[in-house]
Amino acid sequence: MKRIQKVLVLLGSPRKKGNSAVLAGMIAKGARSAGATVETVYLHGLDIRPCTGCLKCQRPGARGCVIKDDMQSLYKAMHEAHAWVIASPVYWFTMSAQIKTWMDRSLAFTTYAKDAFKGKKIAVAMSYGGDDPFDSGCVNALRTFQDAFSYVGSELVGMVYGSAMKAGEIGANETLMQAAEALGKRLAADDS
Ligand SMILES: Cc1cc2nc3c(=O)[nH]c(=O)nc-3n(C[C@H](O)[C@H](O)[C@H](O)COP(=O)(O)O)c2cc1C
Repeated sequence: MKRIQKVLVLLGSPRKKGNSAVLAGMIAKGARSAGATVETVYLHGLDIRPCTGCLKCQRPGARGCVIKDDMQSLYKAMHEAHAWVIASPVYWFTMSAQIKTWMDRSLAFTTYAKDAFKGKKIAVAMSYGGDDPFDSGCVNALRTFQDAFSYVGSELVGMVYGSAMKAGEIGANETLMQAAEALGKRLAADDS
């Protein structure tokens, strides 16, 4: 029987209608059209404190993070979703602080449940003001995502990224919008 696929979109820009959010929205559209349900979370609006490095989450028998903030409900949503969309602007040649803080706190997701990261499908959406992924610093973040998700056994299904400065103007890039929608469809495919 075909399972209903659930996609969790993590918006990592403070600009709710910014370029990375537009890209993520197109991925979500593609996923919905392929039958998935989509939940979107605006990280900037949440209380997510930085990792304190206590490493209690890595102790034998530990279950997740001891910090009681909005990450607790987010861990649950991360666990329930079969796929995640990570959307970030390039800030200072890498991902936004909102996404980096979420990633640091996601160390505790390794013990939230057995094999919590394993098999999660990931799509990345990024925007930058520079001319290309190299001079903007976008590649630094993309490489980090590649290494991090390979390390924890998740599947990086695809990445879409492009240049735009003003909020939302990336929507005019039709080729990129089509690529984002197609990525959403791939993300929702039930290949279990
Ligand atoms: C604090 C800050 C730092 C930025 N750093 C870079 C950068 O290093 N490289 C770059 O190409 N663009 C940089 N930009 C431009 C943004 O990446 C660009 O406007 C992007 O499209 C914003 O995405 P958003 O609309 O999703 O917020 C920076 C913007 C801000 C506000």
